[in-house]
Amino acid sequence: MRACVVGSGAREHALAAVLGRSVDVVATPGNPGIEGRTGEGHRLESTATRPEEIEADLFVIGPESPLVDGLADRLRQKGRLVFGPGADGARLEGSKHYMKSLASRAGVPTARWASYSSGELVEALAFCRSLPGTYVIKTDGLAQGKGVLVTDDLAEAEADLERKLSGTSFGEAGRRVVIEEGLAGHELSLFAVCDGRRAVALEPARDYKRIGTGDVGPNTGGMGAYAPVPSAGSSAVGVAMDRIVEPTLASLRREGVDYRGVLYAGLMIGPDGPALVEFNVRFGDPEAEVVLPLLESDLADLLASAAEGDLRTAPQVRSSPGSAVCVVAASPGYPEAPVTGHLITGLDGAGTLDHVSVFHAGTRRDEEGALRTAGGRVLCVSALGTDLASARARAYEAVAAVHFDGMQVRTDVAALPPEPSRPG
Ligand code: AMP
Ligand code: GLY
Repeated sequence: MRACVVGSGAREHALAAVLGRSVDVVATPGNPGIEGRTGEGHRLESTATRPEEIEADLFVIGPESPLVDGLADRLRQKGRLVFGPGADGARLEGSKHYMKSLASRAGVPTARWASYSSGELVEALAFCRSLPGTYVIKTDGLAQGKGVLVTDDLAEAEADLERKLSGTSFGEAGRRVVIEEGLAGHELSLFAVCDGRRAVALEPARDYKRIGTGDVGPNTGGMGAYAPVPSAGSSAVGVAMDRIVEPTLASLRREGVDYRGVLYAGLMIGPDGPALVEFNVRFGDPEAEVVLPLLESDLADLLASAAEGDLRTAPQVRSSPGSAVCVVAASPGYPEAPVTGHLITGLDGAGTLDHVSVFHAGTRRDEEGALRTAGGRVLCVSALGTDLASARARAYEAVAAVHFDGMQVRTDVAALPPEPSRPG
């Protein structure tokens, strides 16, 4: 079997590496880390060829944008086997209004909300003022993870609403907003692999969204993660599958959406159990870089069975009893204005440590073949261990071997006791 992974980041590198335990993988456009052979002897390659022109037995689409743009539909029309929802299912991530409406129709526990379009500023402000505490203002459309404000300051919320609805801050994506009541608790990322009817959960993960150690500074695409999450309690996953994932999948099905892909439930674990914060329609990044390496059962079989519409044919999902921790090395100036082009050294040392994988997030080779930084997040160093502390120690040992000018690293990823990533 040959699998094609669509995308270019560390999540796609992790997908390629774990699929590469049992199949050959071509990634498009891939990255400089996706090349060579895996320990199991399977070939990994990156190509500039468009996905539509690649021959493969299974397509796995990494990021949300091509899913929202209907790449899975186009590939299916050509008779390809695809893991990833069509544009109809991808609206769960492409429109917060659609996501919240569907969750409400499915009876899923989620924050109280309302949505407004430009021209409804007065009504939007009135709803916002009626909320008891923390205010959450979201652009309806995709805004590269930057469209959400969580604040306790009503004046800040009101100013944000005015900017979004007038199109000043996010253009069209913000001309419709979702306003929500803030939820309290600990966040948890749960990946459910879905075949249209059934869903199976992978290990839950926690990610670190803010740039600075101690959870300070602006939000990023994610500075690290760990899995599983002992403090979440073993029942949270079962409850989230029963109350959130299964009803959503059933609702989608009733509405004619055959959802084959990952349903990533961003959860808030509060005193009443898990509530839904958001759905994403792809694996989380960097959570995938810890959840996937922990898998002991075969990923290619699992994703192919889901893509075929029958998870019952897949082997039981099994994960290692240990833990995984990943730490992101980001460029200077990230997230506001990353400065790139710096030489990266030390990868040979880091990459050869036992149980360590260095996934490339934003790198390129220069004319001499040397690796240089080429994005905000540059590398994601992921390590396995028998427990969280040993995985963490290995990840930080490997990060210490890597260098590029101005490298930013959080030093508290998976620090014990785990830090809640509650915003605000
Ligand atoms: P979203 O794009 O919907 O995932 O929101 C981005 C982040 O904002 C989430 O991961 C949470 O950290 C935070 N957030 C979103 N909605 C809420 C909410 N209702 N209550 C508290 N935090 C939230
Ligand atoms: N780690 C958060 C996300 O992938 O959206």
